[in-house]
Amino acid sequence: MNTPTILVTGATGTVGTALVPALQARGATVRAMTRNPGRVIPGVETVVADLRDPAAVTAALDGVDAVFLNSPSAPDAAALQIRFAELARDAGTNRLVLLSQYAARTDSPVRFLRWHAEVEAHVRKLGLDHTVLRPNLYLQALLAFAGTIARGWFAAPIGDAAVSAIDIRDIAETAAAVLTTSGHTGHTYTLTGPRAVTHAEIAAAIGTATGRSITFRDAPADRFAAALAGLPPWQRDGLVEDYAHYARGEAADVHTSVTDLTGHPARDITDFARDYAAAFTPAENAKDAP
Ligand SMILES: NC(=O)c1ccc[n+]([C@@H]2O[C@H](COP(=O)([O-])OP(=O)(O)OC[C@H]3O[C@@H](n4cnc5c(N)ncnc54)[C@H](OP(=O)(O)O)[C@@H]3O)[C@@H](O)[C@H]2O)c1
Repeated sequence: MNTPTILVTGATGTVGTALVPALQARGATVRAMTRNPGRVIPGVETVVADLRDPAAVTAALDGVDAVFLNSPSAPDAAALQIRFAELARDAGTNRLVLLSQYAARTDSPVRFLRWHAEVEAHVRKLGLDHTVLRPNLYLQALLAFAGTIARGWFAAPIGDAAVSAIDIRDIAETAAAVLTTSGHTGHTYTLTGPRAVTHAEIAAAIGTATGRSITFRDAPADRFAAALAGLPPWQRDGLVEDYAHYARGEAADVHTSVTDLTGHPARDITDFARDYAAAFTPAENAKDAP
């Protein structure tokens, strides 16, 4: 594919923010989608569209070669993603790369994994060139705990189960490779870090990087849910389901897709902790976390 134009949905979000420069580094032309008309992303074309607005999405798809489909977690995320994929097919888009999640399954007890599996199944039936990326827990999701980590501790209902959590920079670089090289049609790539780590090991890594003592405390699910009381019930309950899945040891397998597709090993928790150390120090944040 020669200098393809790639539409990035969620371009201002967790993975999208890292994907835009990763695509630029590969020489792709990026069209970044945002709902915010005032948003400027340096060096790329921005297009204003809401996934809930099919006309705006169709306009955003005009003339693109490939799309990266990533929507925020929302109760209607599956429906929004399915409609986007249909609009991409109708627009003649050559390639769709779907951001799903590790262990997506239609019969999963975790609602987010069922929603992702529903989108995957629909995309497979559409007949467009597609690739599915299934990342495990984002290491950057630990930033939600920064408030208490800055005070020396964090808590979650996971016990001593290990998770092969992944840095979003590796998800972005892998997605950029899949979007700009051939041979990925119909593939589903599970994306993980280089090893599975317990939350106690995560605490130790952040402690080493910040030069402070950080303790991980196992927490009962109901106390974790109570700490998430500010979230809507679907999201709070979904996160509790996510953590129960991690606690059962179901998210500990290590896959080599990041290395295979980018040519470099996935970042370790120690890399993440070093690079984000400032976010976990008391001066840098003031917010509370579960
Ligand atoms: N967190 C994890 O550990 C994890 C692990 C595996 C998979 N995932 C999956 O990753 C996906 C993304 O989750 P995230 O929390 O990281 O979200 P995110 O990508 O940071 O989502 C926020 C982005 O979505 C855009 N957005 C919000 N509502 C929109 C709408 N109605 N139409 C178009 N764009 C909209 C926002 O852009 P603007 O405000 O600029 O419009 C923003 O860029 C989810 O599907 C989740 O299941 C997450």
